[in-house]
Amino acid sequence: MSVETVPDPEIVQQSDVVVKVSATAICGSDLHLYNHYVTTMQKGDVLGHEFMGEVVEVGRDVKRVKKGDRVVVPFPIACGRCYFCKAGIFGACDNSNPNGEIPEGLYGAQAPSAIFGYSHMYGGYSGGQAEYVRVPYADVGPIKVPDGVSDEQVLFLSDILPTGWQAAKRGEIKAGDTVAVWGCGPVGYFSIQSAYLQGADRVIAIDRFPERLALARDVCKAEVINYEETDDLVELLKQMTGGRGPDVCIDAVGLEAHGHDFLSRSDRVKQTLRLEMDRPTAVRQTIQAAAKGGRVSIIGVYGGMIDKFPLGAFFAKGLRMAAGQCDVQQFMPDLLQRVLNGDFDTTSLISHRLGLDDAPDAYRMFCNKEDGCTKVVLRP
Ligand SMILES: NC(=O)c1ccc[n+]([C@@H]2O[C@H](COP(=O)([O-])OP(=O)(O)OC[C@H]3O[C@@H](n4cnc5c(N)ncnc54)[C@H](O)[C@@H]3O)[C@@H](O)[C@H]2O)c1
Ligand SMILES: [Zn+2]
Ligand SMILES: [Zn+2]
Repeated sequence: MSVETVPDPEIVQQSDVVVKVSATAICGSDLHLYNHYVTTMQKGDVLGHEFMGEVVEVGRDVKRVKKGDRVVVPFPIACGRCYFCKAGIFGACDNSNPNGEIPEGLYGAQAPSAIFGYSHMYGGYSGGQAEYVRVPYADVGPIKVPDGVSDEQVLFLSDILPTGWQAAKRGEIKAGDTVAVWGCGPVGYFSIQSAYLQGADRVIAIDRFPERLALARDVCKAEVINYEETDDLVELLKQMTGGRGPDVCIDAVGLEAHGHDFLSRSDRVKQTLRLEMDRPTAVRQTIQAAAKGGRVSIIGVYGGMIDKFPLGAFFAKGLRMAAGQCDVQQFMPDLLQRVLNGDFDTTSLISHRLGLDDAPDAYRMFCNKEDGCTKVVLRP
């Protein structure tokens, strides 16, 4: 990770704009690049998919935004016209990812949309941890934000806020439900708040870092569990829920899960030896803990094949499972309104406000959870 001077981006297609970045953030997903779990990065690639700023150049065909507008940009790049975009599944856009054959080959699946600054298999677009960024399909992605709200209030509409919202949505929460959230990082933080806004009665949040558990408890009003302080998390969750287990289990951890049981340790070895792509500790536990008839919502990122998937428990309990990249564009207008209404606490999670030049240190701190680092905002 280094900070370099590169040529300024320009309009390539007439549906592009160029944005002068005012604030950008580091995401847990960036750590999967940083730690080499999401591959196909190349030397000199510009990272960053959470950013906002001012529109400074506008392609001829762009209608919805104009020079001088202040915009937040969603992380998936989506055309707005294909079958999937029309269905609201912007994270599956068929047109934005010119390198779709890489994930198709790797996953044996159809390609996801492109993502800003997120490797060549996700399109090879330059990202927004930069002074300027080219934003394609400008009539589809960027949303205008009113003057008078701070960058920090709206920046996370680019990713983690809608991502937490979608995590809760895919859990199909009913009034009175108990929701358990694995991971109290930024995505877990917004999943907890979203779960309450969508009708959850109780939210139980799980992590091991005191500062993250404190945010979950004090800001998001969850009951919290430090998983390092229990030998049997699944049993503890059952005990806390009258023997039934949580109605909805959200995995906001992803492929770099930690754990101290035998399976977690063996996952770590297998991942290191490339015998398994992901460390699926949280996925397994969500399935084992969920109440019969419950829902499992996977919002943490995974990249391939896993071992020891408890399909028997999944089947026996009649669970439903959903996963996926967040379709940010679908939720942004509604969530902007909710942010303006004050429904979310969007700023308490920010522990570090730094300059772009500090990015290498910021990545290290956020990756290692050093110095109480819960979320970094960088200003170019
Ligand atoms: N689906 C999407 O569209 C989308 C969007 C943004 C982020 N993500 C993914 O969501 C995940 C979380 O992102 P983040 O920014 O919050 O990352 P983060 O690294 O800051 O947080 C992850 C948290 O999980 C905790 N954790 C690790 N192992 C655990 C376990 N076994 N049980 C409970 N908690 C555990 C860690 O201590 C950490 O606090 C990442 O995989 C990221 O890639 C997905
Ligand atoms: Zn992200
Ligand atoms: Zn599309």
